[in-house]
Amino acid sequence: MARQFSQEQLRVRPSSREESVLCTAQELFERTLIRVRGQLVGSVAALEHPRRSSAANYGEVFLRDNVPVMLYLLLQGRTEIVRNFLTVCLELQSSSYQTRGVFPTSFVEEDGHLLADYGQRSIGRITSVDASLWWPVLCWLYVKYSRDTSFGTSQKVQRGVQLLLDLVLHPTFEGTPVLFVPDCSFMIDRPMDVWGAPLEVEVLLFGCLRCCSQLMELAKQQQQSRLLDQRLVLTHQWLHDLRSYLLKHYWVTSKTLQVLRRRPTEQYGEHQHENEFNVQPQVIPPWLQDWLDNRGGYLIGNMRTGRPDFRFYSLGNSLACLFGLLTAPQQRALFRLVLHNRDHLMAQMPMRICHPPMDQAEWSNKTGSDPKNWPWSYHNGGHWPSLLWYLGGAVLLHEQRNPSADLLLMGQMKAMVEECYWSQLNQLPRQQWAEYFDGPTGTWVGQQARTYQTWTIVGFLLLHHFLRVKPEDVSLLDLEEKL
Ligand code: GLC
Repeated sequence: MARQFSQEQLRVRPSSREESVLCTAQELFERTLIRVRGQLVGSVAALEHPRRSSAANYGEVFLRDNVPVMLYLLLQGRTEIVRNFLTVCLELQSSSYQTRGVFPTSFVEEDGHLLADYGQRSIGRITSVDASLWWPVLCWLYVKYSRDTSFGTSQKVQRGVQLLLDLVLHPTFEGTPVLFVPDCSFMIDRPMDVWGAPLEVEVLLFGCLRCCSQLMELAKQQQQSRLLDQRLVLTHQWLHDLRSYLLKHYWVTSKTLQVLRRRPTEQYGEHQHENEFNVQPQVIPPWLQDWLDNRGGYLIGNMRTGRPDFRFYSLGNSLACLFGLLTAPQQRALFRLVLHNRDHLMAQMPMRICHPPMDQAEWSNKTGSDPKNWPWSYHNGGHWPSLLWYLGGAVLLHEQRNPSADLLLMGQMKAMVEECYWSQLNQLPRQQWAEYFDGPTGTWVGQQARTYQTWTIVGFLLLHHFLRVKPEDVSLLDLEEKL
């Protein structure tokens, strides 16, 4: 566990360079945009990628890295680029038998041909699940914001939604509403023991189903179809079951943990379900006591028989707020937890991807001795500036939805987000908008970090937009809002 840093060390001051940093960031962002068949479609992952390895894929358009890009473009009114992006992704939705419906992790145009990576070209040959789950979310947000309902109800979009739903809404050996995935199937795309039902994937599934249902509702207004009605009923049921499942098995507070610690084990039968996953009290790590404090709460990283993953994952928790999976009081419990653990989660470069990192034998066993995921580095407890806007957006959206709730807490949260913004503004230009940062405080530029990483740049621009330009625009992120 890292030592505690005094609050003074973390405090940052506003900078008079705000305007010039913004101009530079905007210029850099423009350079990340690339064309396919002559039309702008999205951003490469990083502006600078090593020439020595021509196979390096940071020059490709990654779906996940383009999430903040697309939102930023929407807010700038450049909706046609978003539509182009969505259309190219749809074109690349897999049609081969074993992966039908899957969206690619990334794509690029080479010699006039569109080349997509479904995992066959990446390190470790991993297929991402998150790319497919993000597509309907982006599609719905585009339709909602631009009011382009003809795109939303078009045959190609509706067909894409159905193909994607086929991958989720089908019988499996497990009778649970979660999606089972292998290790490395989302933003964390190197071994980190995140197989099974990792939080980020399950929360994204929730957002995905919500948006698929919004898109289907739209089509239903135009045409009667029994198939659509059935799909809508099933999707709503699934959403309900998934949410209950995650809130029951993943949400922890000091109170719930005390119940967990005293549960019976080795329970058989249908009527005994105090401890369905047969979790032994010894697996509850002691660091949770201070971490949760009195009134904090969060969603744990994963639930597997006998082996819950208690690590804290920033993205899954922030998305659970944005997508409305957590109730408003739960969101505030999460904010309290973030404030209480600010020295760990934000430190010098907001914000840490997961906590705590795996060390020694655990690191060696679970990552396959991966030097990139060394303790406090990269996915294993590293700091990613691109993650800050998700939490910032969650705080601002919460305030917009619940204007009079816990003013003191929300005031503290907003002050924290503001300071984190300054902290990025003061450091990122000097550190060439690096991809990630290492060490317990996140002070060092990631040992293998790319520079001029797109989601670092655009994440900063997006947070700036929500804090300074038009705070009411945070409602773009509201999945509950109808057209
Ligand atoms: C790395 C990251 C992944 C990201 C990609 C492109 O592989 O682990 O999350 O999408 O780089 O930036």
